Amino acid sequence: MNKLTTDFVIHQYQSGIESYSKFTTEVGLWASEQYVFEKYLKKTDKILDIGCGTGRTTFHLFRLGYEQITGVDFTPEMIAEATALNENYQLNITFKEGDARNLEYKDQEFDSVIFSFNGMMSIPNSTQRKKALNEINRVLKGAGMFIFTTHDREKDANYFDFWKEQKQIWSEGRQDPKLYEFGDIITDSKNEERQIYIHIPNQEEINNFLQEGGFEVIETFYRNDKFEESEKVKEKSGECRFWVVRKR
Ligand SMILES: C[S@@+](CC[C@H](N)C(=O)[O-])C[C@H]1O[C@@H](n2cnc3c(N)ncnc32)[C@H](O)[C@@H]1O
Repeated sequence: MNKLTTDFVIHQYQSGIESYSKFTTEVGLWASEQYVFEKYLKKTDKILDIGCGTGRTTFHLFRLGYEQITGVDFTPEMIAEATALNENYQLNITFKEGDARNLEYKDQEFDSVIFSFNGMMSIPNSTQRKKALNEINRVLKGAGMFIFTTHDREKDANYFDFWKEQKQIWSEGRQDPKLYEFGDIITDSKNEERQIYIHIPNQEEINNFLQEGGFEVIETFYRNDKFEESEKVKEKSGECRFWVVRKR
């Protein structure tokens, strides 16, 4: 059986446009996002918002005064919706189709990069995620900040048995052959009838990933330990770990 590819991922997001658009127009930034962005990004920063989707973080950062922001996403329908909203809001933000693994920007073009709402972990295959991280490193200036989130296998005790079983399944080679590595899952979306692929790491995995990719961790925390998000945010997005990291 063939391994899962980015076509599966693009398809998973194509079927979620309406819901992401509502999240953009009705919800905006999470309290946790606003905290990290305002703490670590300067209003004058040139920011690349990778996996911007329909522009939720892009528009709301712009409104907070981060006007040098560009949104890129590899799902054409996401960019089409972000562009339509941009026209509606009469803003002049640049939204472009683009793949995190092969960015069209020059070396050191950005002061900071964000990849919000666990988007980076929806890139199948650790080699491909490393490619994306190398690209982010390349387009960032020296000491530039990169902010992203992941789920975490070690957070929710309700899933410890699930992960124990998964470990056994992978060690015996009984895993879904479409998947690449332990931590990969294909699951039903929260509240929506669509299947999604996501890689769920633990903290050690991401620490190594960042170390090898040339980043140092500045701050990391579980969202719900520090913030009480609105019901609308919690309804669409489960617990995650924030990573604030700096190019070494
Ligand atoms: C969970 S959605 C988040 C969208 C938006 N940032 C938000 O918070 O509402 C993740 C987004 O990442 C995009 N994405 C995933 N892999 C990507 C890649 N390799 N390059 C660019 N975009 C990617 C998807 O198309 C999707 O729009």
